Amino acid sequence: MSERTLVLVKPDGVSRGLVGEVISRIERKGLTLAALELKTVERAVAEQHYAEHDGRPFFESLLEFITSGPVVALVAEGPRAISAFRQVAGGTDPVDKAVPGSIRGDFGLEVQYNLVHGSDSPESAEREIKLWFPNL
Ligand code: PPS
Repeated sequence: MSERTLVLVKPDGVSRGLVGEVISRIERKGLTLAALELKTVERAVAEQHYAEHDGRPFFESLLEFITSGPVVALVAEGPRAISAFRQVAGGTDPVDKAVPGSIRGDFGLEVQYNLVHGSDSPESAEREIKLWFPNL
């Protein structure tokens, strides 16, 4: 059964020229693209996107970071797309959690600058896809 997930290439991934690398890894995994857009995030959208982390110590700096430059938002589709992309991305901390061979494991050093976001559950995916691609 096919599933959809919301992926962001965060401002560090875009500024480092890693958009093609991320898309290539998504496609090589076997997922397909259902939507794709380069955009600068408004603070209100960022607050909604990360609402579940409101109150955590890094919340404000996460909002500042995600609104600091353009991001690439995309919807990837395929069997178990949510887990599949999280495997491709690697764990949240690029050094302590992400393994070599994953996007974060290969290209990241710091937890804030971890290059990509992927929905973490079917409920999050549905909410995030509606937020980023209301017309999809
Ligand atoms: S945690 O710490 O395991 O609960 O991490 P997680 O829930 O996966 O993280 C949620 C998002 O917050 C980001 N994050 C941070 N940003 C800045 N500083 C610190 N210390 C930090 N810790 C976590 C993390 O990259 C996740 O962002 P997304 O975009 O969802 O991947």
